[in-house]
Amino acid sequence: MSEVETRTGELFGDLWHHLDDEQFEQSVALFASRFEANGFDLSWFEGKKCLDVGCGGGRYSIAMGRLGAGQVVGCDISDDGLADARVRTGGLPDVSFEKASALDLPFADGSFDFVFSSGVLHHTTDPDRGLDELTRVLRPGGYLYLMLYGGGGLRWAASMAVRPCAQELGVDFIDEAIGKTRLPANNRRHFLDDFFAPIVEFVTWDSLLAKLETRGYGEINRWGRDDHDANANLKDVSKMVLIFSQAVELAKSTNAKTLKLAEEGLATVTSFHNQIEKVMADYERGEIFHQTVVDKIIGEQINDNHRVVARKGGAA
Ligand SMILES: C[S@@+](CC[C@H](N)C(=O)[O-])C[C@H]1O[C@@H](n2cnc3c(N)ncnc32)[C@H](O)[C@@H]1O
Repeated sequence: MSEVETRTGELFGDLWHHLDDEQFEQSVALFASRFEANGFDLSWFEGKKCLDVGCGGGRYSIAMGRLGAGQVVGCDISDDGLADARVRTGGLPDVSFEKASALDLPFADGSFDFVFSSGVLHHTTDPDRGLDELTRVLRPGGYLYLMLYGGGGLRWAASMAVRPCAQELGVDFIDEAIGKTRLPANNRRHFLDDFFAPIVEFVTWDSLLAKLETRGYGEINRWGRDDHDANANLKDVSKMVLIFSQAVELAKSTNAKTLKLAEEGLATVTSFHNQIEKVMADYERGEIFHQTVVDKIIGEQINDNHRVVARKGGAA
């Protein structure tokens, strides 16, 4: 494992066990509901050989296993994530987990019917190589599912702008601040991921489409908008304001440098929050078109990041 992979694995590995059983089950259920909502016949999974690359705590591997997949392999670079995934699987047959990097998959060419990777390649040092690897192990005629961060929008701009400040304050400090907000456990994962993942990359839809076409994919199905809209972006940035307000409170009992940093972080996220509110208010007053709201606040986040299913070309 590279040094970046080790740091990435350590960050993510600590996030999953904070979900209680109910939260974990809700996150497993997202798989079937999203596939169904986008017209994918869930019975297709029966008997199929599936790979979940960057499986984290195993929620989607488990979902595939429950849909009757013949074999599911989840792989990740995080030992802790894999250990959690094994516990959560609870004896579900034909679902197993192993340590492997998306950039160097230890599987034979064309050995899976379905290759799934959600929220992973954009955290790696070489997403193109990752996509090559996912493609290599998928059989011709098999399906690839990818979730990658889309570009643009004020929510991501806020998160990227405050990252240096969060990183200087440190993961433990921000984690404590998040704890004080009493936001649900999946929010903790979400914001620690945004602020501390060593690599966060964005890809435009046009460039992702070109990458898939160059690799011989067809039936490229970009999934529709589901849970991300301008309000969701505003809500996310409001949560960042909450987190940095708590960071300021915590910093008051530390030292002047920490307090200054926390105050800077709060000022940064508050300014993005105000920009989003202004755009939404302008829209409500009829001063701007909806497309301007989309362009300014949401960017390509309108599709809740890029979620895409595509079929590998070549003789099946
Ligand atoms: C945002 S999490 C997503 C986890 C899971 N797919 C899910 O949606 O619940 C990203 C995961 O990618 C893993 N990861 C990061 N770089 C990786 C790499 N090079 N190879 C395999 N997994 C990686 C992390 O350890 C983490 O578990």
